Amino acid sequence: MAFLGYFCRPKAKNWSFGDKMESISAELIKWYDEHHRDLPWRDTTDPYAVWISEIILQQTRVAQGYDYYVRFMREFPTVESLAAADEDRVMRAWQGLGYYSRARNLHAAARQVVEQGGFPTTYEGLLQLKGVGEYTAAAIGSFSFGLPVAVVDGNVSRVLSRLFGMQRPIDSTAGKMLIHALAARLLPEGHSAQFNQAIMEFGALQCVPRNPDCLACPFSGTCFALEEGKVGVLPVKSHKQKVTERWFCYYYIHNDERMYVHKRTADDIWHGLYELPLVETDGSAEGDDIALPFPCELNVASIRFRGGRKHVLSHQVIHAQLYEVSIQGELPSFSRYNIIRIEDAERYAFPRLLTLLLEGLDAGDGAAET
Ligand code: ADE
Repeated sequence: MAFLGYFCRPKAKNWSFGDKMESISAELIKWYDEHHRDLPWRDTTDPYAVWISEIILQQTRVAQGYDYYVRFMREFPTVESLAAADEDRVMRAWQGLGYYSRARNLHAAARQVVEQGGFPTTYEGLLQLKGVGEYTAAAIGSFSFGLPVAVVDGNVSRVLSRLFGMQRPIDSTAGKMLIHALAARLLPEGHSAQFNQAIMEFGALQCVPRNPDCLACPFSGTCFALEEGKVGVLPVKSHKQKVTERWFCYYYIHNDERMYVHKRTADDIWHGLYELPLVETDGSAEGDDIALPFPCELNVASIRFRGGRKHVLSHQVIHAQLYEVSIQGELPSFSRYNIIRIEDAERYAFPRLLTLLLEGLDAGDGAAET
């Protein structure tokens, strides 16, 4: 791996690149032994438990993911129970965590595992599971089967970028290759599980994105970023992803007992979740300009604006409004919508945006767009 030394600039005066890799790994593992959090998925090598925890933690902080993990494992304690579950139940268990394709993929992959008669035990085999990419395959492979593969996530990238002074964006192809090569080079033989946990935990607790406590860091004498005053600017990111704005107008259409809901099935955000009848506009339409999402007349008793909010996802900003439409008499059926009892609504998994809008409705306020 001599080429690594060319791209990275370890602190020059005390050490050469190759010599110090082993001591970095040893230092990280020592730090982990002293500082790591006790987390339930760390007490096991069961690939099912490791997999569930890693998928939850991909886009979710430990503080939020912890309770979801415990509840999910209680509801679906084995891969067989997850495979046999109804999709709506899985989505319900995931409600509020976001990135719902994770839940759909988990469900599909559980069925793959059961069909295959168990979890694959190789890195390549793990990669064949739906929703399992390089990161998750490396995590399950190392934590459950001791495979010598390095995990690379945002925490690992930040730690390595700062330690070695990486100038390339960590989200560029070259930057990613470099990080992977560095992580692989640091991986100590026979200790991949410990090392991978250690470097992730170090990124999560010590080498944090903003204002890390570098004086308390075991690498304060060797970190490139600290020495060069670049802790605040590393890692470099290219910020290629652009944010799309969308305008959603929801209609809570109901009579005394029942309401309409719709299951999202398009290849779009929130696939598999339920929502209220929705009209998406280009942002220019307002209030009366927006057509009701129905092909025929309803016996409408009243229509009231019930609030709006701005909801920020990773790559989309949604400006949502909620109208309440009270209907007199029966709700006619439409193929696009299900009619459900209002009291059963909580059995359906809704996007958090809608839950928040509907909570405003319960509270009787019409929250302004924030
Ligand atoms: N984030 C991703 N994987 C993790 C793990 N195994 N423990 C703590 N945080 C994590």
